Amino acid sequence: MPLLVAPALPVGSLSAQEQPHLPVRPGLTLRPWRDDDATAVRAAFDSPAIQRWHVRRLDGDDEARAWTAQWARRWRDETDASWAIVDADDQPVGQVGLRGVLLTEASAQVSYWVVPAARGRGIATGALLALAWWSFARAGLHRLSLEHSTANAASCRVATQGGFTVEGVLRESVRHADGWHDMHLHARLASQPNTAESGT
Ligand SMILES: CC(C)(COP(=O)(O)OP(=O)(O)OC[C@H]1O[C@@H](n2cnc3c(N)ncnc32)[C@H](O)[C@@H]1OP(=O)(O)O)[C@@H](O)C(=O)NCCC(=O)NCCS
Repeated sequence: MPLLVAPALPVGSLSAQEQPHLPVRPGLTLRPWRDDDATAVRAAFDSPAIQRWHVRRLDGDDEARAWTAQWARRWRDETDASWAIVDADDQPVGQVGLRGVLLTEASAQVSYWVVPAARGRGIATGALLALAWWSFARAGLHRLSLEHSTANAASCRVATQGGFTVEGVLRESVRHADGWHDMHLHARLASQPNTAESGT
């Protein structure tokens, strides 16, 4: 059956371009993952502080290499995108990305994590702001959403500082190792300026 409404973005909106490098601030950049990031990714996923809010773990170097390698394909498929958040030495200190990209609706969900040693320095907030700017101003997305457990106060703070308004609570919608979690749903629209931002 034909659609009544034309897709918001045409096929190729992402895949026609190389995944960009995005500056966050001096000494902090978003770049595509590389094969040689696998060791850093494995160490991050081994951390209990990362596993606390994840639903998957990585078992071994092969899985870590497969994790870094998958993103080029998912970018070409225009379904997901992930960037390494790298420091001044080009070493990964976290991840930020888009999941469940829907070109028809020009929407995606945001995901992020930062390794414990780098937390509390505004890295997640800066990465989220840079990704949101690119998603709206360059990729043409219309809506970005984000979900976190209501018990994850740090993530709530990052989302709020990134201009993502709370839209509601998704009751017992995600199961972690310790059971069901209520999730906060946040979202930001392309038309919604973020007063916390400057220069974008
Ligand atoms: C959430 C996470 C990405 C934050 O990374 P970060 O780089 O430390 O974040 P930022 O420094 O940009 O901001 C963190 C904010 O949360 C606040 N915060 C940190 N721990 C907190 C806590 N336990 N309770 C309340 N606020 C907290 C910080 O004070 C800071 O706010 P501020 O700028 O007003 O001081 C990181 O803790 C993480 O990777 N957690 C595990 C994975 C995860 O939760 N991902 C999100 C799943 S939706």
